[in-house]
Amino acid sequence: MRIWNLIILGGLLLFVAGCGGGAEKQARTAGGNEAVGGQTRKARPPATPPPPRKIDCDRVKCVSLTFDDGPGPHTARLLDTLKVRGVRATFFMLGEVVQQHAGVVRRMALEGHEVANHTWSHPDLTGLSPKEVRSQIERTQKAIRNASGVAPTLMRPPYGATNDEVGRLVGMPQILWSVDTRDWQFRSVGRDAKVGITKPERGGIVLYHDVHKESVDSIPKVVVGLKKRGFTLVTVTEMFRGERLKPGETYTEDPVEAEPLTASPTASPAPGSPTGTAPEPSPTGPSSNPGQ
Ligand code: NI
Repeated sequence: MRIWNLIILGGLLLFVAGCGGGAEKQARTAGGNEAVGGQTRKARPPATPPPPRKIDCDRVKCVSLTFDDGPGPHTARLLDTLKVRGVRATFFMLGEVVQQHAGVVRRMALEGHEVANHTWSHPDLTGLSPKEVRSQIERTQKAIRNASGVAPTLMRPPYGATNDEVGRLVGMPQILWSVDTRDWQFRSVGRDAKVGITKPERGGIVLYHDVHKESVDSIPKVVVGLKKRGFTLVTVTEMFRGERLKPGETYTEDPVEAEPLTASPTASPAPGSPTGTAPEPSPTGPSSNPGQ
């Protein structure tokens, strides 16, 4: 009997030691976090870009503002606007101008915006050789990574022009748009603002060009107007969080699932239907026009 008592006592001691160790470990972790938090409050701008925010765009009404063909002379001012309003955007940039605005591109990433690839020199990729397509993408990846420390994971083909072969060569998800503001054509602050405020629908991707002064001038109004409509402005990656974007595929918006969601076995999607209920197609899908 005595030996059994000893075994039980030993077991109890081990259990208590285990708990103590766990508690101590927890305390260390908590203390560590506090110290990190304290440092962050005092500190200078972060040295590394913040990760995408965890915003559930199935519950929150999300929209993505995207800016093409930059960076340019107005991009820093656009970043000021976005910072003041606390919103994030996605920038599809041309490799050939990234280096001369490297500081702006770095700031973009550090302020939580998404840096993305819009080729080196804006050619129609469907007219290039495979080698030229790869070069357009790879040189731009390198330029953006050198400037910002971040390698893009998304690309947008110039003019929205792509095909299966280009998609395969690009090797990244190709992000098009659901709202084309045609800002490059009209160059009117009032019009750019009105289109950007009224046209987007939930899960929409809005196309602007930060190389035009009027476009950048319209953005304070656009942000206020979209927020009034109940939108949360997110990057493209934030909007598609939780969905696997496939390399080479094209995406024009984030399909919003019909609500309410009920957990019924009969409601599961049919084979071959990835998301169940398909959204209404957007009335303003990509078109090929020269300004994109
Ligand atoms: Ni473009």
